Amino acid sequence: MQLSLTAEKIEKANVDLVILPLFEGKIEKGNSAAFVDSILAGLLSDTLKKEEFKGKPGDIKTLHTHYKIKAPYVLVLGLGEIKKFNQETLRKACGKAVATAVSLKSKKILFPIAECVQELLPLGEVVQAASEGLLLGSYRFDEYKSKKEESSGLSDILYLLPDHKVQKEALKALRKAEILSEAACFARHLVNTPSEDMAPEILGKHALKIKGIKTRVYKQAELKKLGMGGIVNVGKGAKNPPVLIEMIYKPKAKAKKVIALIGKGVTFDSGGLSLKPPKSMETMKDDMAGAAALLGTMQAIAQLQPQVEVHAYVPSAENMPDANAIRPGDVIKAYNGKTVEVLNTDAEGRLILMDALAFAAEKKPDFMVDLATLTGACLVAVGELYTAILGTDKEHIEKLISSGKKCGELIWELPLVEEYKDDMKSNIADLQNIGGAYAGSIMGGLFLQEFVGKTPWAHMDIAGPSWANKPWAYCPKGGTGIMVRTLCEYLMGF
Ligand code: BES
Ligand code: ZN
Ligand code: ZN
Repeated sequence: MQLSLTAEKIEKANVDLVILPLFEGKIEKGNSAAFVDSILAGLLSDTLKKEEFKGKPGDIKTLHTHYKIKAPYVLVLGLGEIKKFNQETLRKACGKAVATAVSLKSKKILFPIAECVQELLPLGEVVQAASEGLLLGSYRFDEYKSKKEESSGLSDILYLLPDHKVQKEALKALRKAEILSEAACFARHLVNTPSEDMAPEILGKHALKIKGIKTRVYKQAELKKLGMGGIVNVGKGAKNPPVLIEMIYKPKAKAKKVIALIGKGVTFDSGGLSLKPPKSMETMKDDMAGAAALLGTMQAIAQLQPQVEVHAYVPSAENMPDANAIRPGDVIKAYNGKTVEVLNTDAEGRLILMDALAFAAEKKPDFMVDLATLTGACLVAVGELYTAILGTDKEHIEKLISSGKKCGELIWELPLVEEYKDDMKSNIADLQNIGGAYAGSIMGGLFLQEFVGKTPWAHMDIAGPSWANKPWAYCPKGGTGIMVRTLCEYLMGF
């Protein structure tokens, strides 16, 4: 889908649909809705009045124009109250608008975007948020369908921007939104692809294809030599061997900071010998969403060029039960030498992350953050929409939370409760991989902390928001691409 700018007249534009943005209340004199209403002899305002259309966020009303303007349809798009208006309201509204446009089989859309500009939301932000909503909202995963869905018909969004002086700002924002949305959709694609076609080595191949990033894939034999007992043992029950992917981005000028990112890449989580029940396994191709977020982020920053150096590590394995699989009660040794008694093979994420965290910490980054679909308990604690964050560095945690807020990706901090560590003491090894019955997500965080040494660190549990069980505003059911945009926003902030 192409996004571009135009200064054409609304009534003359050669499009199938005109979006008419409307803040809650009445049609304002001078805006495009008022203009179209006058051409339609009051039909628009009459209809909105009769149907009690108030312009609440995401409310949509479409009308046929009977060709009184060139476009056959107009779509009134509710943006809610002006004082509550923000990027996320616009992203969501645009996500819904694009779904309606697809159902009307529109090919070209005209959007008088300048009308959305507000004191607290300048043109650049407006163009970026709208473009993200439209691009993310039009993503479909139809690779495995014999008949492709109809979304492909929508080819052009034209932003109506009569003022030539602001075009440069708008084009810059548009380009940024394209990079970010493409990266998030790349992450969605990696998650949505069935595990059979997204084995650890295939994930490695996708990483190697990212331009502008120095990537290395450590294979099984090397992982054994390096002493990465977590990745090797989690992967040994599977036909597809495990890997560790390393991706490095260096800015052209001297880096302001070095940030390490670590992403859980379990390409399928059956639970291993501690087998999951069938229902819980249905979505477990999603267990590499942390890895997907990192690949997306690296693809985007290679283009956005932040001033920080970024080291990304993806430990990737398939957690399967077979004659070679790791057993409950086995003891394994992590890259940093610590021994772990594996009491539950379904708590495998922390076992592959422990090696990658210790490996990343060795290079002494200024801060490191891991992303993982780590615990079902996280869904119980904060639900489907929130990512939980836990860690040792307040400043970076705050930065991540505020970056998330700007991107419409919600993050909530949970405490790392030292006292709970006692529950992870093992009889025979340095620690065991599960705690007691409570605070599962905190236990996961406390376990990971054992492998970060003195490096300032945070852990993000994305078990909830990495997967949409039902479609919502700008994301269809399936992988969401969560945290790609937040990580980019965070990295661009240095
Ligand atoms: N991949 C799962 C966590 C998960 C569950 C992600 C639901 C997304 C949705 C993880 O490997 C796991 O199975 N964790 C166990 C940990 C437990 C054994 C301590 C869990 O949550 O039950
Ligand atoms: Zn598991
Ligand atoms: Zn898992």
